[in-house]
Amino acid sequence: MEWLSDPNADPVVNVDKLTYAGNLRSLAPLQDDPRHRFVRADIADGQAMAELLARHRPRAVVHFAAESHVDRSIDGPAAFVQTNIVGTFALLEAVRAYWSALEGEARQAFRFLHVSTDEVYGTLGPQDPKFSETTPYAPNSPYAASKAASDHLVRAWHHTYGLPTVTTNCSNNYGPCQFPEKLIPLMILRALAGEPLPVYGDGLNVRDWLFVHDHCAAVREVLARGRIGETYNVGGCNEMRNIDVVHAICDLLDELRPRAQGSYREQIRFVTDRPGHDRRYAIDAGKMAGELGWQPAETFATGLRKTVRWYLDNAEWVREVTSGEYRNWVSRHYAS
Ligand code: TYD
Repeated sequence: MEWLSDPNADPVVNVDKLTYAGNLRSLAPLQDDPRHRFVRADIADGQAMAELLARHRPRAVVHFAAESHVDRSIDGPAAFVQTNIVGTFALLEAVRAYWSALEGEARQAFRFLHVSTDEVYGTLGPQDPKFSETTPYAPNSPYAASKAASDHLVRAWHHTYGLPTVTTNCSNNYGPCQFPEKLIPLMILRALAGEPLPVYGDGLNVRDWLFVHDHCAAVREVLARGRIGETYNVGGCNEMRNIDVVHAICDLLDELRPRAQGSYREQIRFVTDRPGHDRRYAIDAGKMAGELGWQPAETFATGLRKTVRWYLDNAEWVREVTSGEYRNWVSRHYAS
């Protein structure tokens, strides 16, 4: 949607497997836009990828497809290995065949942009310098390990086959349309439903929050001007402790949709910590700023207000996205 908000943007073929976290309603604003085509397919289906590439002949492939929720990766790592590693491999092979057959300017201009995560770098202590592009990989969760593996495949396909790749490693995203398994939408929706707000451990884990539109702007910059074979760290410059994030959500809801009595903060509960929970993530986005002139436009306060408002205004989207399968998982995961 970000991409197509530019009237001069190239058409987009949007490929998605529509797993539990997918919702076609998120694409409703694009339904009359002839530049957008949706295709339901799995990146691990190499033949389907090859056919799509042959039919649409894209000038770039931007690879966002991934299983991305750490708690789910702890409960069931197989889907993460399948989509994030096997899927990336299948997509790379299809793209390599397509790109190898391109000629001249089309071959020169082609890019494969791989979207990854800061979790590949492991965890930081309170005084450690932020993650940079040269921080050694040290993934701790099955999710992080699967993304680290996919980054390595992309790197190898560039070094070995010359595929023109660029990789981005971003910090925690938030904003409209995010599936409510991630901290911020989970807390907004549970608060509104009058449910307990489950903060893991002592609530002092730190994440660096990146508003989704800032992330999209960064991806556009890297696609346009990123150097082939390079990686770029994309962060929000918003390091926050989880408990402070949850307090900020409660305070916004107290203002925008007050409870009959008392504050949403009263719903906060400290619960058993996530196994292997990384303490702190923080991104040094200096390379993005220095090379590409990119900086996040939103502060945490402005981005969070937009996000809370969006969830308040889009109850129908929320109802559709929280399917039976998702509800079952939530009741199992948060049972205790
Ligand atoms: P999450 O949104 O799952 O992203 P990630 O694990 O990729 O950083 O979690 C963000 C932080 O919030 C993380 O430190 C775990 C914590 N958290 C809770 O305290 N309670 C919850 O119910 C969830 C989902 C996350």
